[in-house]
Amino acid sequence: MTIVLQAEGIQKSFLKPKRLNLLSDIQLSVREGESIAICGRSGEGKTTLLHILGTLEEADSGTLSIAGMKATSQNAFLLRQKAIGFIFQSFNLLEDFTALDNVLMPAAIARRPISKEKGVELLREVGLEERADTPAKVLSGGERQRVAIARALCNDPTLILADEPTGNLDRANAKRIGDLLMHTVKAKKKSLILVTHDPDLAALCDRRYLLIDGVLKNS
Ligand SMILES: Nc1ncnc2c1ncn2[C@@H]1O[C@H](COP(=O)(O)OP(=O)(O)OP(=O)(O)O)[C@@H](O)[C@H]1O
Ligand SMILES: [Mg+2]
Repeated sequence: MTIVLQAEGIQKSFLKPKRLNLLSDIQLSVREGESIAICGRSGEGKTTLLHILGTLEEADSGTLSIAGMKATSQNAFLLRQKAIGFIFQSFNLLEDFTALDNVLMPAAIARRPISKEKGVELLREVGLEERADTPAKVLSGGERQRVAIARALCNDPTLILADEPTGNLDRANAKRIGDLLMHTVKAKKKSLILVTHDPDLAALCDRRYLLIDGVLKNS
């Protein structure tokens, strides 16, 4: 089956405020239609790894290929627009824009606008249709998280990267989001890498890894 993401020998250290060797040798291969959970203690480097896999941050060394293309600093922007949907740990919504405008934003940036109806449909899938016209700044934490999830699906990405996508949700909404992500992966043959502390969500994924001492171990 097609390999959607291949990471080999990824290393990352931060030099300031003091040297921190975070990722020492990350090897990861994700196929089409496959979901992967990455767990690990706080501060172990999960968000940093997800940012590197999403071309938002550069590794010190190693190689990364996404959707058959080797990621470089030149093509990273295009790769993100075309192939990657990112659900950020801190959501990164545009505060003064409505939920719907936030959802439509990736398509507008990519100059491939989608209809409002499609945006509302994405909001419906996360249970927020009625909040379409509400500015992001007045939404609750869980509502913001769900808008961020709808936005990540806007460009119909090949690869979905989700950083603790149920971290702010109650059990019912966490289940709904878990089911939505898994359904999206299986029905539309997407690939999903998610970071989570939630064992129920990790259990839904095809494979699970623990990030520990800078490497991914099967768990
Ligand atoms: N730009 C940066 N400069 C220096 N240190 C950084 C930078 N980004 C992250 N770090 C440090 O790297 C470590 C790992 O951060 P990261 O956010 O990847 O952890 P995490 O595993 O996602 O943690 P959590 O589960 O709490 O979200 C932390 O100690 C953090 O302070
Ligand atoms: Mg994190």
